[in-house]
Amino acid sequence: MKTIIEPFKIKTVEAIYFTTKEERKDILEKAYYNPFSIHAKDVLIDLLTDSGTSAMSSNQWAGIMQGDESYAGSPSFFRFEESVRSITGMPLIIPTHQGRAAEKIIFTILGGKGKYFLSNTLFDTTRANIEFSGAEGIDLICDEGKHPSIPAPFKGNMDIVALQQTITKIGAENIPMVIITITNNSGGGQPVSMQNIKYVRNICAEYQIPFFIDACRFAETAYFIKLREEGYSNKTNLEIANEIFSYADGCTMSAKKDAFANIGGFLAMRDLELAIQCRNLLIVTEGFTTYGGLAGRDLEAIAIGLQEIMDEHYLQYRIRSIEYLTNKLIEAGVPVMQPAGGHAVYIDAKEFLPHIPVEQYPGQALVSALYEHGGVRGVEIGSLMFGKYDAEGKLIPAQLELVRLAIPRRVYTQSHIDYVAEVIIEVFEKKDVIKGLAIIEETPLLRHFTAKLKIIE
Ligand code: F0G
Repeated sequence: MKTIIEPFKIKTVEAIYFTTKEERKDILEKAYYNPFSIHAKDVLIDLLTDSGTSAMSSNQWAGIMQGDESYAGSPSFFRFEESVRSITGMPLIIPTHQGRAAEKIIFTILGGKGKYFLSNTLFDTTRANIEFSGAEGIDLICDEGKHPSIPAPFKGNMDIVALQQTITKIGAENIPMVIITITNNSGGGQPVSMQNIKYVRNICAEYQIPFFIDACRFAETAYFIKLREEGYSNKTNLEIANEIFSYADGCTMSAKKDAFANIGGFLAMRDLELAIQCRNLLIVTEGFTTYGGLAGRDLEAIAIGLQEIMDEHYLQYRIRSIEYLTNKLIEAGVPVMQPAGGHAVYIDAKEFLPHIPVEQYPGQALVSALYEHGGVRGVEIGSLMFGKYDAEGKLIPAQLELVRLAIPRRVYTQSHIDYVAEVIIEVFEKKDVIKGLAIIEETPLLRHFTAKLKIIE
């Protein structure tokens, strides 16, 4: 088979900024070893997130010029609505300014004290919005999903037995929704199978619990289903996406991922009563029902991006490019999550830096080393992000110490990715000199965004 090439050519370019290792050492120290405090201008390859960082196509930019900024009834809204409907099949579509705004609306309406939301794995903002309403979120990931280095085709699946048991234990009346995240971002970008989605739907139907999808990376999931699940190899990505959504009562979406947009999101659903409540809250917090916190031009970019993402050549290239980097790292002995996910490579920092105890944040130490060595910015998904303290102030570590390198869509070429692999492998060869970190300042909530750290000499 020939090389799978980038399915686009480049019309506009943006310079990236080169710094020396000496400069980066200084920048890191001034940023207190926190990548969120580094100016993007000082980053060479930015893999902090795949969210809102996509390159838009010439068609999307053309759509931007057609954006109609009418407060109510903009033609841009109707194009957006039609595009979302063609993918989800949902009759009721509500635009929001990003994914978490859709979450805020739906969980404010359905959440509250004494309620439980069940998921494969909730993303941070989803969990935060559930908890902010007073409700609780429960993750029921399948067994395969708990082991980073053991490959399995659908490690994002929900544990069906645990789902049934949890419903019986808590009572269906206290569960306003089951929500499945495709692909499972916090669980390594791993996909969910159609079979699993069907099982979850059937259980939800039996107990009359609404079933929603966190659809941020639905197209990547659809392509994994095409590649890995029996009976789907001859279906189009659109047919697979249509089938996925056909099982759901609704979805939340961040258009900053699988819609190639730099901002935006939506809620889609079938229940009119619920949609009326959502729209009422939307008007208070986001904007009128035909723009929901977005400009008409943003709606156009999303409408076009949602169609473009279904392209077979794009999805083949996308999934292959993540696999390409993952395989290079595996060949060099770097411990990574397996198999490759849909949007990011996850390095197992605990194994990468066995000499650094979890109390010294090996993930953050690795993030710092990758930046210092090669100007590559990733993010820690470990005890800095999820760690808590016990009554004595001792760290309760996260289950895994990961470093996520999320690949922006259509932004970097294969040589950029080769460079990233070289940086990681060189750091791996000299890993013994990397030192642990200590927190010197932190906030009680979401501390990883603003924490200040120092090197432990
Ligand atoms: N759900 C999932 C699975 C996500 O990955 C994100 C965002 C959201 C919801 C919220 O969407 O950012 O538009 O408000 N993930 C980004 C990331 C921030 O870096 O993984 P949003």
